[in-house]
Amino acid sequence: MILVIGANGMLGRDLMTLLGDRGLGVDIAEIDITSPESVLRVVGEIKPEVVINCAAYTDVDGCESNTESAMSVNGEGVAYLAMACRDNGALLVQISTDYVFDGGKGTPYVEDDAPCPLSVYGESKQAGEMNAAFSPEHLIVRTQWLYGLHGKNFVETMLRFGAEKDELTVVDDQVGSPTWTVDLSRAIIALIDAGCRGTYHAVNSEFCSWNTFAKAIFEEAGLNVSVKPMTTVELNRPAKRPLYSTLACDKLNADTGFKPQHWRDALREYLKLRV
Ligand SMILES: NC(=O)c1ccc[n+]([C@@H]2O[C@H](COP(=O)([O-])OP(=O)(O)OC[C@H]3O[C@@H](n4cnc5c(N)ncnc54)[C@H](OP(=O)(O)O)[C@@H]3O)[C@@H](O)[C@H]2O)c1
Repeated sequence: MILVIGANGMLGRDLMTLLGDRGLGVDIAEIDITSPESVLRVVGEIKPEVVINCAAYTDVDGCESNTESAMSVNGEGVAYLAMACRDNGALLVQISTDYVFDGGKGTPYVEDDAPCPLSVYGESKQAGEMNAAFSPEHLIVRTQWLYGLHGKNFVETMLRFGAEKDELTVVDDQVGSPTWTVDLSRAIIALIDAGCRGTYHAVNSEFCSWNTFAKAIFEEAGLNVSVKPMTTVELNRPAKRPLYSTLACDKLNADTGFKPQHWRDALREYLKLRV
């Protein structure tokens, strides 16, 4: 049995669909990962072979003013899960992020590159990565720029704006790989089924800026919206973001044979599903 925590979230919902009968989902109503008692009770009762932790405090800007909550959910919560996995002989799969990197490397990050987060969210997710190691059997899957049918995301925001406006300004100096939660779920399942352990990167292939991604969304959706460039400095968000934090997925490909599709093909497939 594979226990998915955060099963009502954007990634959790797609993972549950793909896992089918292999998956059992719980969310905040059944388990609070910040409570060691709650974690021990649920993991101890279900005794899963694998725990996939999709639960997180994902409001990147909100983390800057809620450091305690961010560290509690994204850091300490993972420690409790890891200890429960250790005690029950389960594999812990922890989902992490490109925001553990500062984006200054200039080429795609590989799994062994040293984290250097710029934000509270990134620091809390790095703490989660370290705490996952309390479970001798652990797998850390770093990803980025997620969108899916079941959560707030950039694609849905652009489509909403695009229905109301004919011109938008979108940052063009942050580069990454837009990643569909269905393709990430496929990668996670491939890693589990191949018996992988340690750290892996999993994103859709190739990369672009948010600005290019926005243009692609409007083109694929048949919306006539002009997308102007702006800089990250001009946008002035509370949390600092890495400028170039693309993640190399060669290790995923070599160890599982799975290669996520090009981000634009994934976007096309996603847009077909939502109509
Ligand atoms: N979204 C992205 O672009 C992105 C990029 C890179 C990595 N990631 C990582 O990918 C994973 C999945 O992200 P997502 O976008 O699918 O997240 P999401 O939609 O925000 O889902 C997270 C789920 O966890 C639940 N949760 C929050 N606190 C909890 C707690 N203390 N105990 C149990 N459940 C709790 C949330 O419930 P409530 O909604 O009720 O709070 C929600 O159902 C996270 O680890 C995230 O850090 C995301």
